[in-house]
Amino acid sequence: MLRTLGIETSCDESAVAVLDRDGAVEVNLLSSQITVHAPYGGVVPELASREHLKALPYLVEHALEGALDPIEMVAVTAGPGLVGALLVGVRFAAALAWGRRIPLVAVDHLEGHLVSPLLDLDGRPARSEPERMLALVASGGHSSWYLIEGGSRRCLGRTRDDAAGESFDKVARVLGLGYPGGPVIDELARRGDSKAVPLPRPRIENAPFDFSFSGLKSAAVRWVYGRDLQGVGAGDKRQEVRDLAAGFEAAVVEQLLRPLDELAMRHRPQAVAASGGVAANTLLRDRLTDWGARHGVEVLLPVHALTADNGAMIAHAGQLAHRSGRVDDPRRLDARAREVWQPPGMRKQADRLRSREMGED
Ligand code: KG4
Ligand code: ZN
Repeated sequence: MLRTLGIETSCDESAVAVLDRDGAVEVNLLSSQITVHAPYGGVVPELASREHLKALPYLVEHALEGALDPIEMVAVTAGPGLVGALLVGVRFAAALAWGRRIPLVAVDHLEGHLVSPLLDLDGRPARSEPERMLALVASGGHSSWYLIEGGSRRCLGRTRDDAAGESFDKVARVLGLGYPGGPVIDELARRGDSKAVPLPRPRIENAPFDFSFSGLKSAAVRWVYGRDLQGVGAGDKRQEVRDLAAGFEAAVVEQLLRPLDELAMRHRPQAVAASGGVAANTLLRDRLTDWGARHGVEVLLPVHALTADNGAMIAHAGQLAHRSGRVDDPRRLDARAREVWQPPGMRKQADRLRSREMGED
């Protein structure tokens, strides 16, 4: 693999990292925009782009100063995400790669999350991907289970409405807990009784591996309004707020992990992984770790700092893609709001669909 600079600007974190030839993280820098977007209760796209423009040159300069040797490749998130925000990273990365005459590799943001459990922040080389693995990606924009086998990725189940992180953020917003909501609900939930507030666990008919969070979220929001608890704020000491946090967290985690038993029976994975911002959740981590111990299956979780968006996971996904032959043209690379490219296992399916649309099949 090549020594790689990774750049991530798909949402509200400007993140840059340098990984050595073994995938060990040498530098991992982050500039969060949370305080910029907090007053609006969510990410404001135009503000995000402007903040990336300010932060990125500074972060890259520091990352290159901190790296032990010159970089040999640039990897950048090209989608999915906010197009304006992505463009800042993509153009910056393309100019850098072009100027230094080194390869540029476009990375799908989800692919980054998928490889994040392979990395450490203590100077150790990246571990190699287990041969057959079930991987959950749960973030502010995605909630899906993948089967990762021999380098291919297949989506086995996904949310039909909200993402798990998004539902944490919405319930938190109604309670006035600020943005992002997941970490605050996690903290409140530690002191709550998860059985005190009954919440539904909706299922999707005929799709046992897909999730739905919108009914659960609406029920939680109705409960908050029903008790006149809207906007109470994170400092509120009422037990019922903690109980709601615990009940809601338990329901989301149950929804996310419900497909696991059946998927594990079908696919017999060597390991089970979780990644994305929601993989920072205490209950999710505990439940998965217990599941692994009970079933004798290794559980891979990213270190806390690599659950959220970061440059290290983008650099490593780029390293692996480059090793398999991927290179992008710095003059042509564009940002995409949706998937950059289907994960390798899904690419054939996408190609088939495309050729069918074009009447070639
Ligand atoms: O992966 P990420 O940083 O950004 C996206 O790609 O979306 O994920 C952010 C999401 C937010 O919705 C945030 O509320 C959620 O991850 N999150 C959590 C926790 N920490 C972050 N959700 C539950 N529990 C947490 N501890
Ligand atoms: Zn993400």
